[in-house]
Amino acid sequence: MIVKILDKKVPDTMVVPLAQDAQLADRLVEIAARTGADAATLQNDFRAEAKEIFVLYATGSPGRRLYLCGMGKKTGFQEIFSTLRLFCHRYKSKLPQKVGFDLRHFPQESLARYTEAATSGALLGLYDIGKYRTETKPEAEFGGPKSEINIVLPTKGLKEMEAPARRGQIFARTYLSLFDLLNAPGNYKTPEQMASWAVKAGKECGFYVHVLNKTALTEQGLKALAAVGQGSPNLPVLIVLEYGTKTRKTKTPVFGLVGKGVTFDTGGVSLKPSTNMHLMKSDMGGAAAVLGAFMVAAHLQLPVRMIGVIPAAENMIDGLAIKPGDVIGSLSGKTIEVTDTDAEGRLILADGLAYLLKQETPDVLIDLATLTGSIIRAIGTQAGGLFTKSDQLADMLSTAGMECGERLWRMPMWDEYGSDLKSDVADLRNFTGKPMAESISAAKFLEHFTAEHPHWAHLDIAGMAFADSDFATSKSATGYGVRLLIEFIEKWSNITETPS
Ligand code: BES
Ligand code: MN
Ligand code: ZN
Repeated sequence: MIVKILDKKVPDTMVVPLAQDAQLADRLVEIAARTGADAATLQNDFRAEAKEIFVLYATGSPGRRLYLCGMGKKTGFQEIFSTLRLFCHRYKSKLPQKVGFDLRHFPQESLARYTEAATSGALLGLYDIGKYRTETKPEAEFGGPKSEINIVLPTKGLKEMEAPARRGQIFARTYLSLFDLLNAPGNYKTPEQMASWAVKAGKECGFYVHVLNKTALTEQGLKALAAVGQGSPNLPVLIVLEYGTKTRKTKTPVFGLVGKGVTFDTGGVSLKPSTNMHLMKSDMGGAAAVLGAFMVAAHLQLPVRMIGVIPAAENMIDGLAIKPGDVIGSLSGKTIEVTDTDAEGRLILADGLAYLLKQETPDVLIDLATLTGSIIRAIGTQAGGLFTKSDQLADMLSTAGMECGERLWRMPMWDEYGSDLKSDVADLRNFTGKPMAESISAAKFLEHFTAEHPHWAHLDIAGMAFADSDFATSKSATGYGVRLLIEFIEKWSNITETPS
């Protein structure tokens, strides 16, 4: 797929995203005049509702068609992105080799952002989730290597839209490969396979990856990660990512990112019910977000330093698996009574956080994890849970999330929520035993391993990483977190211009 921006010689097939705003009626009059349709009938039949798609054929011009795509009331990054994604997803098999996406009617000051959104959305619409199907689909014209996405823009300022179009492509291509990783079944992504995936991504995108295998984990004292992995023949690993140089000339900010990489979560001996257990192949959504952030940062060559740590394990049940009540050690030196083996994410994150802080002193420390079902019960699937004591960090993360459509909602971190984590036999226990506020007590557990870092945030993305959508029949990967992290990193570092 080739992406081009252009102002003239538009292709025969054009797509126009339209909002239900004050200009809609006039725009439809124009469109009717261009295609030979009756304006009043068109205004009656197309209302620009979200997800509404309407096709018009130009009289007397065979092959010329115009797809009107409704966005609902609002025009913004998220609306353009999801509207064009849905359009390409639904129509890809019918489209010709070249398709134009018309953005000429949007205000000049929003064009960079919308160009990025349109490019990203159109490319993502081509995602094929059926990676393990044997039937071969007839090759579609649109989506093949020679096919083209044309972003149609006003002549004025056309050149400046190249960088946003490139940025949109970088995000989309990153999401496309992350989707494959997240949607992959557990038997195709063991911790070691995920590590190989990371190594390959590092080589392709330009960041450094090294992997601590089981032996190294034991030698270096990552006892909590080793304990979670001990019930599986697929051994746990720690994946370490590095981007940007350590020798800092100017004051380049350093970001530490930790992502939960449980490649499958059965719950262990505290076994999960079987009904939705298959969804637990997505328990590495935090790891995927961290990987994606490194991929995008490297492609954009952001002037920052990033260190990423992905503790990866399969939470299985067998004769060697940890049992409820077992006491385990951890890299930090603290001992933990495992009162519930299904609260495994916080155990591996404890070692991930401690490992990162041993290697480096980041200015900002963020962990992302599909950590609790409780965050879904609390705020559903419209936002990730944000846990931090830093108001500055909370504001900037929330704003970044609002602006790119990967929303966050702040949760309390009052110390009282941590009191039930006291253990009689060890330094602390991993589950309070009480069926309430579990996402908050999970955050309070993690806090013990952050060395009181002033700018630490924990993002519970259990409701966001793998979700229902228009793009699949059951839950599937969303890529949540990647854009959020990149746009946050840019904000925190004052990077305003889009690098080209
Ligand atoms: N991976 C799960 C959390 C989860 C649930 C992610 C639903 C995505 C969708 C996590 O390891 C877990 O099992 N958490 C327990 C914690 C409890 C034992 C304190 C939970 O939420 O039930
Ligand atoms: Mn679990
Ligand atoms: Zn889990």
